[in-house]
Amino acid sequence: MKAAPLSSSSAAGVVRKARLPTYLYTLLAFSVVVAIIHGEYLVCIFGRFEPTRVTSPSPSTTPVKKQREMAFAVGKGEEGCDIFSGRWVRDESTRPHYEESECPYIQPQLTCQEHGRPETEYQKWRWQPHGCDLPSFNATLMLESLRGKRMMFVGDSLNRGQYVSIICLLHRLIPPHKKSMQTFNNDALTVFRAKDYNASIEFYWAPFLLESNSDNAVVHRISERVVRKGSINKHGKHWKGVDILVFNTYLWWVTGQDMNILKGSFEDDQKEIIQLSTEDAYRMAMKSMLKWVTRNMDPDKTRVFFTSMSPTHSKGDWGGEPGGNCYNQTTLIEDPNYWGTDSRKSIMKVIGEEFGKSEFPITFLNITQLSSYRKDAHTSIYKKQWNPLTPEQLANPASYADCTHWCLPGLQDTWNELLFAKLFYPNST
Ligand SMILES: *[C@@H]1O[C@H](CO)[C@@H](O)[C@H](O)[C@H]1NC(C)=O
Ligand SMILES: *[C@@H]1O[C@H](CO)[C@@H](O)[C@H](O)[C@H]1NC(C)=O
Ligand SMILES: *[C@@H]1O[C@H](CO)[C@@H](O)[C@H](O)[C@H]1NC(C)=O
Ligand SMILES: *[C@@H]1O[C@H](CO)[C@@H](O)[C@H](O)[C@H]1NC(C)=O
Repeated sequence: MKAAPLSSSSAAGVVRKARLPTYLYTLLAFSVVVAIIHGEYLVCIFGRFEPTRVTSPSPSTTPVKKQREMAFAVGKGEEGCDIFSGRWVRDESTRPHYEESECPYIQPQLTCQEHGRPETEYQKWRWQPHGCDLPSFNATLMLESLRGKRMMFVGDSLNRGQYVSIICLLHRLIPPHKKSMQTFNNDALTVFRAKDYNASIEFYWAPFLLESNSDNAVVHRISERVVRKGSINKHGKHWKGVDILVFNTYLWWVTGQDMNILKGSFEDDQKEIIQLSTEDAYRMAMKSMLKWVTRNMDPDKTRVFFTSMSPTHSKGDWGGEPGGNCYNQTTLIEDPNYWGTDSRKSIMKVIGEEFGKSEFPITFLNITQLSSYRKDAHTSIYKKQWNPLTPEQLANPASYADCTHWCLPGLQDTWNELLFAKLFYPNST
């Protein structure tokens, strides 16, 4: 396995880093020291950056301990078992959890059967951890636990897929006139409601978590991405009061180029934009998110999840046809060490470092490796096409295959089984 190209720090990278204000580094270094002394100070120090800060919901006087009883827990995960390390097992008797046609909430970008996928093999796999068994997904338990509560997914289209998956896993328990799905704010917010439970499961579009020029859920640019430093509250104000938060962000950071970071505001006439490497920019976002969570979420009553990078299969780098992608792939990658050659490794390192410092106990859903085996599970050409296909494209289907998103039912149901396991049976750490 090679180190991802983006992780190589060039001389230019050093110059760029030097452009960050030194007071920031000083302050961060200072905060870390202070945090070790007493967790509560962290909030005070970071409070200086974002004056809109409101009082944190539970300013407990004791420092946050890692051994706390997690909210929503009904049991404990098996000691020492890493549920993200395992293998895929074919299991036609228990998979899929639902049929594509049974779940009206799946967006046409993910309904592979409806769009002509000729087989359903990708629906028949179950994740088997090496060291223990996963608890079976119990929709009743999940819905009962959400009574009077809000669960929200925040992130990009991959997180939207996981959001839809969990609704598909739950909605059968609710009769038709007792549930609804609505969108607000130009589709930035999608809300599924289970009326009798007074529960909502929501999706909030924020592909960078921070404010960016890609925040319109419908019309967003792929190129020339600009992310605004220190802007987490712009979206974060819509996440307050949520009981279970599930974040993701990755795809939009990986452009093959440095990221444009805006200091100041998008309304400024003179915009000051600096360039950061993908890793440094991503680290900035992680720090902002962790800061927001520490300040706004109550670790005794709420839970925060972060789903790791969803892998793509567009380079045939698993030893298949050179240049081949997920098109026409119906089998799994069997090499347990397969990882892919993009920037996932360096981003994973950033996540590990930043989450390791977090005051708030974030539950990490490390789905990258287990998903990377699933070159068969992408939507490929079996999805709604926004634009008519050209004769050249039609002659070469691989050229327009979507090797980023995943068919439902499918892989993302497993992500939610893992979320279920971690929500109700967290490890003691
Ligand atoms: C699912 O959860 C409900 C509510 O906690 C419980 O009554 C039921 O026994 C569980 N079902 C299974 C199969 O474990
Ligand atoms: C319904 O749930 C919301 C939280 O989503 C809560 O604030 C409210 O008090 C609940 N209402 C009732 C009647 O239980
Ligand atoms: C799809 O893959 C199979 C082998 O798995 C091959 O025989 C077939 O020709 C491929 N079809 C297309 C259209 O590429
Ligand atoms: C996630 O899992 C991979 C192996 O699948 C591991 O290398 C990596 O360190 C894990 N990441 C974190 C942050 O724990």
